[in-house]
Amino acid sequence: MKIISLLASPHGLKGNTAGLLRLVLDGAESEGAQAETVILRGNTVLPCLGCDACHKKGSCAQKDDFEPLKDKILAADGLVLASPNYIFNVSAQLKAFMDRCCGVIHCMSFWGKYGASVVTSGGGDDEPITQYMNHFLITTGAVPVGGVGATMSSMPEGDFTDEVKKSARALGKRLVEAWRAKTVPPQAEKRRNEFRQRIHALVAYRKEEWPHEFQYWKERTGA
Ligand SMILES: Cc1cc2nc3c(=O)[nH]c(=O)nc-3n(C[C@H](O)[C@H](O)[C@H](O)COP(=O)(O)O)c2cc1C
Repeated sequence: MKIISLLASPHGLKGNTAGLLRLVLDGAESEGAQAETVILRGNTVLPCLGCDACHKKGSCAQKDDFEPLKDKILAADGLVLASPNYIFNVSAQLKAFMDRCCGVIHCMSFWGKYGASVVTSGGGDDEPITQYMNHFLITTGAVPVGGVGATMSSMPEGDFTDEVKKSARALGKRLVEAWRAKTVPPQAEKRRNEFRQRIHALVAYRKEEWPHEFQYWKERTGA
């Protein structure tokens, strides 16, 4: 299994989020996965311009790292998102990537991939953020296998607790096992199919404005 992980912290590999992500990837690598981490620092995947080029033509008009990164993810089997909690949500660096995926979401282009989410925070609120990240993964077509969070204020020694380490490694293992078995949990299946219907209907309704996306769905569904 080939995994791309996106690390969206300005502290890069030295930060808390990188430490937690490493544990998840250790778990995945122990099951034979190969992982590559891309650091999003906010200057290589810029915010969306809202120009609609992705919907019309299938690729972004901005010439930065987004399109090569999208191709890298398309060629992989798994996508792990890792972000610090920045004011009760993902960092702007990760949000910029998510916004740039508007065309990916309209086509659910990451269908068949498996994903997971990783969050660290100063004081908590990790769960709604990993849920948000996993909801994003569903809308890209990927199957999220879960999320892990760690709160730094509850780690006075500066290291993750054994419980957090265990959950993070287990998440990485689960990612590879789910991909290998092609397991789709019923709840994820339901939400992914509901979103598929909704987005397909929207693209059909906007077929004049979004010819690339209309053609994309037509080739796959005949409608
Ligand atoms: C701009 C900013 C906003 C933050 N907002 C929150 C927050 O809303 N809630 C929280 O618990 N921690 C918050 N934090 C703390 C970080 O989430 C926490 O230190 C995190 O582990 C940093 O990860 P990193 O070392 O990978 O960058 C914030 C930190 C910064 C710099």
